[in-house]
Amino acid sequence: MGSRLVGYGAYLPERVVTNKDFEKLMDTTEEWIVSRTGMQERHFARDDETVADMATSAAELALKNSNLSIDDIDMIIVATTTPELDFPSVGVQVQGRLNATKTVPAFDVRGACTGYIYAMHCARAFFAAGMYKRIMIIGAEKMTRFINWEERGTAVLFGDGAGALIFEESNDKDTGIIDTVVMADGTGFGMLHGTLDHKISMNGPETYKKAVTLMPEAAAFIMKNAGITVDQVDWLIPHQANLRIMKTAAETIGFPLEKVVVTVDKYANTSAASGVLALAYGMDNGIIKKGQLILYPAFGSGLTWGSALFRV
Ligand code: UT7
Repeated sequence: MGSRLVGYGAYLPERVVTNKDFEKLMDTTEEWIVSRTGMQERHFARDDETVADMATSAAELALKNSNLSIDDIDMIIVATTTPELDFPSVGVQVQGRLNATKTVPAFDVRGACTGYIYAMHCARAFFAAGMYKRIMIIGAEKMTRFINWEERGTAVLFGDGAGALIFEESNDKDTGIIDTVVMADGTGFGMLHGTLDHKISMNGPETYKKAVTLMPEAAAFIMKNAGITVDQVDWLIPHQANLRIMKTAAETIGFPLEKVVVTVDKYANTSAASGVLALAYGMDNGIIKKGQLILYPAFGSGLTWGSALFRV
């Protein structure tokens, strides 16, 4: 069994924080942030707004868009790195908030910024095994909980948000999640990790070097596996960590820059929500059309990296 995408939803908190706002908060400039990252603004969740709140809002929209109810869903997988509660999972919290009456598996995966690809990887395997009919994948993060306001090199980089995708089983192997690859290298822990006092610790330049190598590697691997070349792919949606990284990744695999979907300017880096939000943005704005083929590489803390290939 393969799959097909039947719905999606995106949630972004109301508060928009611009680069100018950061100029008032720390020793930085709009020029530095734009030239080094491509970021213009990002959304910050309210203090009382949780990852589960945002995930639930995105899930509600995805269900509405697909004319389904929560009881039509057979599995909920949430990719998140920033849940407020150690237990239960955000997946279970979403299930409860949507008043599901059917008892189905709901759980979280923690793949940092690669989390949404890890979730897709799980979903692809479950569909291939013929175990579930409909799987909802949610990427949700409140990265601002981890901002170190003393550290201008990382404070300006992150935003909050959530995106949800609903996939349904299909006999067509060329729709939905066609292929996925995920990798991890725990020896890269020191480059980018959360600290015990809930702060982001990152060696920016070292992480950058890994990102521009491993994302194109994963994208090239998955194209080779599928026996396709860049001209057969409609859109490249890389993890939205830095516009320079995204451009370099595209150039490395010979992908035209005008076919790269960019939201890093509007949402900054939303970690496990990043790719899902970019996909939703592309579809909401008529950039991505039904039937198009998407190459979806990601990279993050762990180190983790990977890519999906899917048709919307
Ligand atoms: O999502 C998971 C994966 N994450 C990533 O892939 C992020 C990877 N890393 C990056 O995107 C980039 O390394 C950053 C955007 C984090 C930083 O850009 P960079 O070009 O690597 O800058 P840098 O860290 O080498 O710093 C260059 C200069 C330094 O000043 P000096 O030492 O050259 O005088 C920093 O102190 O920029 C300074 N700087 C800032 N200046 C103004 C660092 N942060 C800021 C800031 N405003 N916010």
